[in-house]
Amino acid sequence: MARLGHWLRLAVFLGMAAVLATPSQEAAAGVNLPKLEKGKGDACVEDTETMRRHHMSMLKHQRDKTMRHGIRTTKHSLKGCVECHAGSKTGSVASTKEDFCMACHAYAGVKLDCWDCHATKPAPKTPGPVGKAPRPDASPLLAATVNGASQ
Ligand code: HEC
Ligand code: HEC
Ligand code: HEC
Repeated sequence: MARLGHWLRLAVFLGMAAVLATPSQEAAAGVNLPKLEKGKGDACVEDTETMRRHHMSMLKHQRDKTMRHGIRTTKHSLKGCVECHAGSKTGSVASTKEDFCMACHAYAGVKLDCWDCHATKPAPKTPGPVGKAPRPDASPLLAATVNGASQ
């Protein structure tokens, strides 16, 4: 009896491992993606297929340009992604697994450190009380205040 139980558990474990392993391979191949909320506006900064495949290197390239050479173009800026892709429920790109940037990443097992420094939410449109200076959390880099203390 005990032996049979052991084999059963092993079979269940292998079955689960197979189920869990499949989605990340599909996500990496761009097939059968999780449901994504559509971005704001008519189109992304590049066509959808290009974005799916190449957004990682775009963002890194953009960062290298800004950080190392002081060139500031906004086309592939991370701030732009957040402005158009913040979820309607959370107002964030990465606070739940349904949020845009998290959806695929959770699926594919990708973990980003970007949100340690960069805000996951767009800067407030009308910062601070009327007539006062903008709140400090209007800065896209003050992630601790914008993302919330829980992160
Ligand atoms: C240790 C803090 C830190 C981390 C982690 C970090 N960044 Fe940045 N990032 C910065 C700073 C500082 C700047 C310069 C911001 C400025 O000058 O406005 C910057 C600028 C950028 C820019 C150019 C400005 C913009 O909004 O487009 C991009 C793109 C960018 N980072 C992408 C990323 C991505 C993608 C990740 C994760 C893979 C990441 N960063 C992780 C600190 C960080
Ligand atoms: C002006 C608003 C806007 C900006 C800025 C923007 N996007 Fe998009 N993005 C969209 C829209 C709208 C779509 C849906 C396009 C479609 O339906 O074909 C989209 C689609 C995508 C997709 C494909 C989603 C899918 O269905 O597979 C990815 C990935 C993506 N964007 C990532 C990014 C990243 C990363 C950035 C920042 C570098 C960014 N976007 C900036 C509006 C934007
Ligand atoms: C359509 C699915 C999808 C969406 C939506 C998506 N990503 Fe990704 N992202 C991926 C996959 C898959 C990888 C891993 C690619 C690889 O390892 O080659 C990845 C990797 C990355 C990387 C590189 C991570 C590393 O450590 O090298 C960055 C940066 C990144 N994504 C940023 C974003 C941001 C920011 C958003 C939201 C604006 C976003 N992604 C939305 C699928 C997506």
